[in-house]
Amino acid sequence: MPKLAINGGKPVRSKMFPVHNFIGQEEKKAAIEVLDSGVMSEFLGGWDPIYFYGGEKVREFERIWSDFVGAKHAVSVNSNTSGLVAAVGAANVGPGDEVIVTPYSMSATATAIIAYNGVPVFADILDDIFCLDPVEVRNKITSRTKAIMVTDLFGHPADIDELMNIAEEHNLIVIEDAAQAPGAIYKNKFVGALSHMTVFSLNCHKHIQTGEGGVITTNDDRLAEKLQLIRNHGESVVEGKGVSDLVNTFGFNFRYTELQAAIAMEQLKKLPWLLDCRIRNADYLSLKLKDLPGIITPVVRKDCRHVYYVQPFIYDNDEVEVKRDKFIDAVSAELPTSPDRANVPLIWSGFVKPLYLLPMYQKLIAYNNDTLFGLPYYSGEVDYAAGLCPVAERIENDKIVMNDFIRPPAEIEDMKDVVDAFEKVYENRDELK
Ligand SMILES: Cc1ncc(COP(=O)(O)O)c(C=O)c1O
Repeated sequence: MPKLAINGGKPVRSKMFPVHNFIGQEEKKAAIEVLDSGVMSEFLGGWDPIYFYGGEKVREFERIWSDFVGAKHAVSVNSNTSGLVAAVGAANVGPGDEVIVTPYSMSATATAIIAYNGVPVFADILDDIFCLDPVEVRNKITSRTKAIMVTDLFGHPADIDELMNIAEEHNLIVIEDAAQAPGAIYKNKFVGALSHMTVFSLNCHKHIQTGEGGVITTNDDRLAEKLQLIRNHGESVVEGKGVSDLVNTFGFNFRYTELQAAIAMEQLKKLPWLLDCRIRNADYLSLKLKDLPGIITPVVRKDCRHVYYVQPFIYDNDEVEVKRDKFIDAVSAELPTSPDRANVPLIWSGFVKPLYLLPMYQKLIAYNNDTLFGLPYYSGEVDYAAGLCPVAERIENDKIVMNDFIRPPAEIEDMKDVVDAFEKVYENRDELK
């Protein structure tokens, strides 16, 4: 008789995991207040000393967010993707400029560079925290390098001090994609005030959300002004505002609405509790699973806080003697998903393909059939060949496992079932061979 659910045995758990939804009465009240006021957005796309910066709620949200991370400025935007594009623009990246970027992130981290005809130069990642490896970054610097784009992947901060040291030596701008890391801590300081510009996401999958949304933080007055111009039709604002540096000040409409800002302020109040819940659940799983040989629980570096957008495990195929995907499918079969996930499991193998392996990079087509990245302005040679970043490729293809069971409001009782499922599959893994 098979024991494992994947082979027809009885699963560890039949009850669904709890729904992850923290839009409550507070958000409803805030939204109704805005609806009643009739002011859904108050941006003016021309120079005005107040409304160029948006409505009251947008400006209040920005003050609260900048206080929260300890940065001088916060600039809200309608998505993290818009924020990354604005940050690349504010860094004065132009045609043919290189930006060194992690290959292991959501695709927008690198495409933001292409939006300004910049050339993404991928550097490999660290195998413990999965963020850009500063040594690899150093190896990729050329006279064309303008910026470094790093992601605080899964909620663990990147090695920001090292990257900022490199940036200082070579006069580069560091853009930090912290879409997955609100509230993360690096060397006892909040992520958001440590690099030149940090971009957060408020999309529906993130720790806190307003459907879509984003916010960029910076301590630099010049960068803040440029971000505001890019967010809001800069080309028609510069004369009235008296801006003399016109580089990359052509603008977009990346504006956040009053409704979203009002909801975001309520969501931010909930963030500390939501993070505590994720961290408590992740710590419990790490403690209970760390002694299973071949299941390696996440590293949290000294004086850092991991905020577990997902909890990544490293899986050692040789040690367990069962292929990762087979093992994880078997764990998943022991545990149902949650009603808000359709039929998508709460645990799975792999995160994303290293970005240079996407068709656009493989075919070197960003704009049309005969326009390579940054060309004809680019004097270097792009390299997006398979094998470019072996650590990222090995981790993605063979090793990484994403665990989303930790999402609030799951409790330790729920985590016990996850531990039981891992242990059951581990003990009966001969059934999978
Ligand atoms: C690391 C990272 N960067 C960028 C994005 C894009 O964020 P948004 O959907 O807010 O544009 C995401 C969203 O999943 C992300 O996880």
